[in-house]
Amino acid sequence: MSMHLFVTDHSGTEHRLEALEGWRVMEIIRDWGIGLRAECGGACACATCHVYVDEDWVDALHPPSDEEIDKLDEAPATARNSRLACQILMRPEFDGLKLKVAPGSEPD
Ligand code: FES
Repeated sequence: MSMHLFVTDHSGTEHRLEALEGWRVMEIIRDWGIGLRAECGGACACATCHVYVDEDWVDALHPPSDEEIDKLDEAPATARNSRLACQILMRPEFDGLKLKVAPGSEPD
């Protein structure tokens, strides 16, 4: 089944990305060549995959784990809709998910 993500990059451009079930949102963003630091490669250890989830989607996602919440504390400019993109696995219910790369997570 084909699913899509809408990702706004650090320069403000929105991209529609094809996504596969079971993939980490972080991996999908990087595989499509959108700038995202994600330094630790998905181990929930760097907080440089910080994204802002569109307000309409915040409650549709599974809540963050304690580990994710602790790590988000280290990210700059967090907000109620902050998440780590490596901790969200694509599933059919998330088709159409919208998010934005947060400051500090863009590549150098
Ligand atoms: S890639 Fe490092 S916490 Fe997500």
